[in-house]
Amino acid sequence: MKLRTIWNVCMGVAMLGAIQGSEGGVAGGEEAFSRLMPVPQELVAGEGRYRIDKTFTVKVSGNPDERIYAAASRFLRRLDQRTGLFLPQDYVEQGEALEAAGLEIVVSRPGSVTLGEDESYRLTVAEDKVRLEAETDLGTMHGLETLLQLLSADGNGYYFPGASVTDYPRFPWRGLMIDSARHFMPMDMIKRNLDGMAAVKMNVMHWHLTEDQGFRAEIKSYPRLHELGSDGMFYTQEQMREIVAYAADRGIRVYPEFDVPGHATAWLVGHPELASLPGPYEIERGWGIFDPTLDPTNEKVYEVLEAVFTEMAAIFPDEYFHIGGDENEGHHWDKAEHIQAFMKERGIADNHQLQSFFNKRLLVILEKLGKKMVGWDEILQPGMPTDIMIHSWRGRESMVAAAKDGYASILSNGYYIDLMQPASEHYRVDPLPADIDLSEDERARVFGGEATMWSEHVTVETVDSRIWPRTAAIAERLWSDASVRDVEDMYRRLDTIALQLEEHGLTHLKNREMMMRRLANGYDTEPLRVLADVVEPLKIYRRNADLSYRSFSPYTLLPDVAVADAKDARRFRSQVTAYLETGHASDKQAVQGMLERWVANHDGFVRLADRSPALREALPLSEALRDLAALGLASLRGELVEAKAVLARAREPVAKVELQVVDAVERLLAP
Ligand code: ACM
Repeated sequence: MKLRTIWNVCMGVAMLGAIQGSEGGVAGGEEAFSRLMPVPQELVAGEGRYRIDKTFTVKVSGNPDERIYAAASRFLRRLDQRTGLFLPQDYVEQGEALEAAGLEIVVSRPGSVTLGEDESYRLTVAEDKVRLEAETDLGTMHGLETLLQLLSADGNGYYFPGASVTDYPRFPWRGLMIDSARHFMPMDMIKRNLDGMAAVKMNVMHWHLTEDQGFRAEIKSYPRLHELGSDGMFYTQEQMREIVAYAADRGIRVYPEFDVPGHATAWLVGHPELASLPGPYEIERGWGIFDPTLDPTNEKVYEVLEAVFTEMAAIFPDEYFHIGGDENEGHHWDKAEHIQAFMKERGIADNHQLQSFFNKRLLVILEKLGKKMVGWDEILQPGMPTDIMIHSWRGRESMVAAAKDGYASILSNGYYIDLMQPASEHYRVDPLPADIDLSEDERARVFGGEATMWSEHVTVETVDSRIWPRTAAIAERLWSDASVRDVEDMYRRLDTIALQLEEHGLTHLKNREMMMRRLANGYDTEPLRVLADVVEPLKIYRRNADLSYRSFSPYTLLPDVAVADAKDARRFRSQVTAYLETGHASDKQAVQGMLERWVANHDGFVRLADRSPALREALPLSEALRDLAALGLASLRGELVEAKAVLARAREPVAKVELQVVDAVERLLAP
């Protein structure tokens, strides 16, 4: 497969310009090469610099899809917003006769927003011209993102550094799943995240539209589905079409998920007759796995599903269609006498077989609509035809098994960004590591992967800060060569992309400030920030182990301000490592400075919590940080101190977050 050809990555030259610990922004020198994310397949430094001035224009030639004109115009607006230059071209238009365009885009043919389309591009920056060539306009859109990431500045102004980039994706399926069902996500959230995806060269949005907590798609033939199943928060068909078009303009496929037969409570609110057990049913407000399940023995279920899928197939042109199929424990099937009788009559031995029976009925409907079925790995059951696709989430084993059995698959196990693990965890997960036991043909059936943004514990206010910047690390894993795997280097580039992503209106950084202001009740947020920058939310669903959260709980507190990669914790851990390795006075000073800051912070936090009752639950945490930091300082002074109790206390979760600097302080104590 062409997309999988492994090219040598010539990043050696590029990496020379790296400046460790730099904070992002437009950099001087050819440093920009080492900031590209995802890392391109091949980059060779060129001669000279292309200087950008206020005469800069863009010309498109060849035979592109017309989406390229809007894309090139968006590129120009981002460029003039970043540079402050009043560029002369309002829109890049078809057939414009520009004599000396600074950037020439040359496209061979219109791109099709479908799986496996050619997304490669070649970008050449010379002193007098920038040239971007590609087979399709999809490739040139990726190239425009690379070019914007190359934007550099020096004493003479802005420029693109001389370079020759040849780039293409390692995997053809680089997705983000957005769960709009548990917490509804407004149109603007979807659009700005599509822009973010395009910026890191992702090309699939998987739209999770139904759940126990909400049915989010307007269905004209059965309007009770969305009318009674959504609290009025759903997408009209017009809006879904708008999203599909918006995504296609950015080279992104959108395919929907209608999760059945479990995770289906919201379907049953308006249509209890579709359920395995008699209703009534209400929209679920809690989080977990619930029993309400569609009745696979009821012909009306297939009528409704066919109507829903038919309406949706007309809106989502993508050939793939996700039917969920996960976490159906079948409790209501076990309890329903008519279902038990049905199984007996047909020799259906267990609930797995019953779900296969159900899936095969859906397969007929989807095939009629020209769609390929995708399901979570539970649908991998004996007897399913190999033209369905397996979405691996419980473990990568199902991806391997699927590939061996002739199925296409994508990987999400390891890319669950809702688990609030650091970016490094996801970055290390490779769908096809070198030692995987799969033949060439089997490997070719692993199409890529998807980050999954399940939305139990996010709201529209916090969701961007869970998606970004970590999803950029996953995007890189799926685009760049497998040899690109240096975690520290990834974090350095992630810091840069986090800032660049803001220009799409993404709120991952700015909402945090707003939320801290609210939490601080109008007072100075600094003591809260100091604490928030060393804690991370409880990981891997421990946050709701006590079932304290429901749909309308306040997702506005310390764990919501905290992010998965606590900024100062990461910095402190590397400072401690540097100090322990070198013993240098400057490294010691850095460590000491952080510890002193945490000791001093507690008094301020106490005063703040006094005025901001919502922060009081975090008081013991602030105190634990103070005592931990004091322990570290004592150790730096060479004092022998009793540490056990302090460390144990600092490791205790408080207010649904945990300190991320305890191990590092403990390392300072080691003899
Ligand atoms: C899933 O996370 N239940 C697919």
